[in-house]
Amino acid sequence: MKIGTPLSPSALRVMLLGSGELGKEVIIALQRLGIEVIAVDRYPNAPGHQVAHRAHTIDMADAGALRTLVEKERPHLIVPEIEAIATDELARIERDGLAEVIPTALATELTMNREGIRRLAAEDLGLPTSRYAFANSLDEVRAAIDSGIGYPCIVKPVMSSSGKGQSLLRSAADLNSAWDHARDGSRVDRGRVIVEQMIDFDYEITLLTVRAQAADGGIGTHFCEPIGHRQEQGDYVESWQPQPMSETALSRAHDMARKVTEALGGRGLFGVELFVRGDQVWFSEVSPRPHDTGMVTLTTQHQNEFELHARAVLGLPVDTRLRNAGASAVIYGGLDEKAIAFEDVEQALAVPGSDLRLFGKPESYVRRRMGVALAYGDEVEDCRERARLVAARVRPVSSSN
Ligand SMILES: Nc1ncnc2c1ncn2[C@@H]1O[C@H](COP(=O)(O)OP(=O)(O)OP(=O)(O)O)[C@@H](O)[C@H]1O
Ligand SMILES: [Mg+2]
Repeated sequence: MKIGTPLSPSALRVMLLGSGELGKEVIIALQRLGIEVIAVDRYPNAPGHQVAHRAHTIDMADAGALRTLVEKERPHLIVPEIEAIATDELARIERDGLAEVIPTALATELTMNREGIRRLAAEDLGLPTSRYAFANSLDEVRAAIDSGIGYPCIVKPVMSSSGKGQSLLRSAADLNSAWDHARDGSRVDRGRVIVEQMIDFDYEITLLTVRAQAADGGIGTHFCEPIGHRQEQGDYVESWQPQPMSETALSRAHDMARKVTEALGGRGLFGVELFVRGDQVWFSEVSPRPHDTGMVTLTTQHQNEFELHARAVLGLPVDTRLRNAGASAVIYGGLDEKAIAFEDVEQALAVPGSDLRLFGKPESYVRRRMGVALAYGDEVEDCRERARLVAARVRPVSSSN
């Protein structure tokens, strides 16, 4: 692959589908390598729009709109950042040779639907997962639980992310509300859910796994140090790296991540989500793109997950080594308002060994992720404490004050 000059006929053009905080960092990494970047999102002035050569606002789930834009921009590579994309159109774009989809159109399709990736991991590859069943009605959910999954269990729409529409069921009394919640939280109203046995794990990790060009011309698999994280309502609130693991658990995690990313194929970075108890490891799901919990790598690795993704998709070598320990803590908007402001950033950054990203999102919601606090050092526990302190000190305020 040849890298030309941006904004000239020799440019190597990359289109980001989804330009949130993760896309913004991928774009910055691509810009640093002299790539011409086109940022696409469903609303104007998205974080990645603000750092790209060109910005477009379209509904990426609309196959016609997506096709028209790709034909107009003629990107060499398409890098999806979100799940809600017309993946059937991506497959046509790839098949017509219009652009290369990262990691592949099939991988984006399989991972956007919990059924696709779960059947691939558990049934085709034989990876250990929680017990599960798919259901299309309240009666089918009840039957699945009664015939072996049991309580506690979790019901999730097959098409949803960031914990939307998920419920934890402790008894049959929770069935009705879980079913209604899943229908409301589904991205596409298909009324199809996965029912999963609740795994009583010691901790959960994201294993960032990179498929990148090797010297011999093939594709090599590279692992980052495991990232530990804590979720609230299905959404990540803090993460840290490295998460200590037993040798056996780590080698099982590597083995599962290698198998699932090899099956998905293509080049790029993947976020493999795993549950761990002692030496036991269960596969949960995988993102074929940088992972939100991986924002910690902005302060821990020689090449952060966004730089790794950029390099891998361009066919360049990668270095996944950890530089130092670190932690991240999410900064929420705390209010429902457009164009908010942040106060006390100077106090926040006065915390030693700290850093910060404010995403520049045009509109805040109480539970919308607006920034992330980072801390680095020698000990994970100490980094976690400082990252939380940085996040707590940043104060989102109304700009009309
Ligand atoms: N079977 C399970 N057993 C135990 N905990 C679970 C199970 N499924 C989900 N969880 C918990 O809920 C979190 C979110 O679940 P999951 O990753 O499936 O949802 P998601 O909506 O895809 O979230 P995201 O998009 O943030 O990754 C997990 O990280 C884990 O903490
Ligand atoms: Mg997840």
